[in-house]
Amino acid sequence: MSGTLTRITLARRPAGAPVPEDFKLVSEPLPIPDTGDVLLEVTHLSLDPYMRGRMDDVKSYAPSVDIGGTMTGQGVGRVLESKTDGFNPGDMVTGMTGWASHACLPGSELRKLDPTLPPTTALGVLGMPGLTGWVGLHRFGKPKAGETLVVGAATGPVGSMVGQIAKGMGLRTIAIAGGPEKCRLATDTFGFDAAIDHRAHDTAKSLRTAIAEAAPDGVDIYWENVGGKPLEAVMPLMNVHGRIPVCGMIAWYGGANIAEDNQLPAMWRSILVKRLRVSGFIIFDHWDEYPAFLSDMGPKVAKGDIAYLEDVADGLEAAPAAFIAMLNGGNTGKQIVKL
Ligand SMILES: NC(=O)c1ccc[n+]([C@@H]2O[C@H](COP(=O)([O-])OP(=O)(O)OC[C@H]3O[C@@H](n4cnc5c(N)ncnc54)[C@H](OP(=O)(O)O)[C@@H]3O)[C@@H](O)[C@H]2O)c1
Repeated sequence: MSGTLTRITLARRPAGAPVPEDFKLVSEPLPIPDTGDVLLEVTHLSLDPYMRGRMDDVKSYAPSVDIGGTMTGQGVGRVLESKTDGFNPGDMVTGMTGWASHACLPGSELRKLDPTLPPTTALGVLGMPGLTGWVGLHRFGKPKAGETLVVGAATGPVGSMVGQIAKGMGLRTIAIAGGPEKCRLATDTFGFDAAIDHRAHDTAKSLRTAIAEAAPDGVDIYWENVGGKPLEAVMPLMNVHGRIPVCGMIAWYGGANIAEDNQLPAMWRSILVKRLRVSGFIIFDHWDEYPAFLSDMGPKVAKGDIAYLEDVADGLEAAPAAFIAMLNGGNTGKQIVKL
């Protein structure tokens, strides 16, 4: 099959927050699938905070993207050509396509999508972020009815999953989100009992006062998505035997606003990437739980019992700007790019 593949590569390593010049759009002829391979046209690409880490040349739980390499990412797409059993042209599939218009991947690395669900759900609510919230809350949060949970980035795909499961289990749920509109979505769409706008608080102390008012019995589970000000605010409010699943620390991903002598972000990152008890965890260790997650949450999403939001950017060229915006809270819901 002839045609052109376009992809976005890492042009250089970012110094702090990524800028558009860190990315480059390149075009080349479509690859020819080998035996065992499937050629697909990507219809939607997932943008996730972890991709910021892949842009740095640091030791982590997954390799960095090389300069000139395609930005890592999960996509969904339509099969154009298959050289393996089990996949036919027209099938909708998902896999690690990278930031690219097409991908040629071994059939063993692809999963066929449930045709009864919107394909984009495989990237968010029923994909890696949804699984992260589901696994992490049950396994590391160990929620109990009557307890209080606080989560930052609460309207994103991880935070909204965590909040909805916890609420369904009888916890008091408190969202930390950026701006009044996200706070409204947190309570009205995702059922949080209270929502606090971290942008309305200049200091961790002020944010702490607001969280303490919303959590009169203290905090039993702090689901860590953010680091930064929310972490500093919540820590003194933790109850004895509280749990902190350390899922992410997006406030510190770009290294911005970290004083030279502040070791806390580096220590907190070690808890996450080295999976130290408090409880740092990485979803890749828990992929075997995906079928159980899908059979639990798939029907709930299909029935509308679990809500989700998607923020869709238009065109592969829009991916860098959408990614940069997401790292600053510019997304409302799961950030996706429609190709
Ligand atoms: N451990 C794992 O395996 C794993 C897997 C998936 C995701 N994660 C992590 O989970 C977290 C959430 O991921 P997601 O996909 O659901 O992302 P997301 O919520 O869609 O997007 C990130 C959100 O982070 C918030 N944010 C950014 N900078 C912030 C700051 N300085 N202070 C407070 N909030 C800030 C923004 O929300 P507001 O505007 O509401 O503040 C932004 O919309 C990320 O840290 C991610 O790296 C970890």
